[in-house]
Amino acid sequence: MSLITWNENFSVNIMEVDSQHKKLIELINELHEAMKVAKGKDVMGNILSELVNYTVYHFGTEEKLFQKHGYAEYVTHKKQHDDLTKQVVAAADKFNKGGNIITVEVMNFLKNWLQNHILAVDKRYAPFLNSKGVV
Ligand code: FEO
Repeated sequence: MSLITWNENFSVNIMEVDSQHKKLIELINELHEAMKVAKGKDVMGNILSELVNYTVYHFGTEEKLFQKHGYAEYVTHKKQHDDLTKQVVAAADKFNKGGNIITVEVMNFLKNWLQNHILAVDKRYAPFLNSKGVV
């Protein structure tokens, strides 16, 4: 069973962003699956590294939309992105330097940041960007 399952509650009504969120969910599920079946450190390290890179790419996509359309909460939203990026990078560094294991705590942290950020923070920009014709 997947750690996180996409459902319509996650949707921000912007096709490109929804598709990026789905990809992030997929990567976290992949990492969880790899942890459960004790895949090798290379496999897990690669998934984590892809997760870090895709997270940065995804946050950049949203930030460009905020700047282009003058989203009033740009600064506070970007700060959350910067904090989350630091935390994900730290989790990957810990994995690379600390015995190459992913703990249940790290998995829960990844699951929670993604879910909470999408549901509580990303959802706030949806009506604004939708009203600007971004769908
Ligand atoms: Fe989808 Fe603000 O990250």
